[in-house]
Amino acid sequence: MHQYTGKLAVLHQGAEHKQQSQDLAERLSVPFYEKIDKECPESFFLSWREGCLKLLDKELLKKGGLVVDIEPRNGEQRSWPAPKQDALAHALGKKTKTVIDATTGWGQDSLHIFRMGYELTCIERSPVMAELLADGFNRLAELDWMQNLKLQSPKLIKGNAIDLLAAFDSPPDCIYLDPMFPPKRKKSALPKKSMVVLRDLLGDDQDKVMLFDAALKATGKRVVVKSPDYAEPLGGKPSESYQGKLLRYDVYLKN
Ligand SMILES: C[S@@+](CC[C@H](N)C(=O)[O-])C[C@H]1O[C@@H](n2cnc3c(N)ncnc32)[C@H](O)[C@@H]1O
Repeated sequence: MHQYTGKLAVLHQGAEHKQQSQDLAERLSVPFYEKIDKECPESFFLSWREGCLKLLDKELLKKGGLVVDIEPRNGEQRSWPAPKQDALAHALGKKTKTVIDATTGWGQDSLHIFRMGYELTCIERSPVMAELLADGFNRLAELDWMQNLKLQSPKLIKGNAIDLLAAFDSPPDCIYLDPMFPPKRKKSALPKKSMVVLRDLLGDDQDKVMLFDAALKATGKRVVVKSPDYAEPLGGKPSESYQGKLLRYDVYLKN
């Protein structure tokens, strides 16, 4: 059975993007609907709304949807490159120039890394997330500041990083990992809706130790793992660790 059977469909509403929606449904081998009713078995929908590709669950159908947000984070300086001053920048390392984000997801860490001026390549294995990212990166390329500075959106590679990382010609300075960890039983903070939907759609990343091993082999200098503060370090004792809000960036230096 296909991975999205009974789970995901493309929903086309309004006058625009019909052909794009049909092509998308075909690429993902999922149904194409122009309206949905109670009988419809799928609980996730991809739909173009307000010029963006959005992911919706049944709760979000009326409220709007989830998009790859290309706006700078709260408090992030709106200049390019943004200052490298937070825990993530410290973890990436002062001398780092090239970064591969091997678990791009909603692209929020990637876009922050990109805006700090690193040379970034993104990998994502979920075909749905890769479609949402491609839409977000296309929108990014159209922004005035990107065009004025003649910048291109990060390169996006679709596929499993465990296989892809081994095939890079020149090793990057840093490989960044943010795989999905199981939630803590006693919830301490409400996770963001985008992460809840991602977990519902994709489940946990069960092969994250294999991904870590592949990353350590492929990197030039370091691997950085973002981890919830309650989780054990993915690769054993890290060389360095930087504390963020309810999370940690564990750094593994390659000797
Ligand atoms: C927790 S999310 C990442 C969130 C992301 N850091 C952000 O800021 O939006 C994990 C993502 O990594 C992807 N992923 C996990 N293992 C992967 C692998 N081996 N290769 C490529 N993508 C992977 C999952 O499909 C998921 O979209």
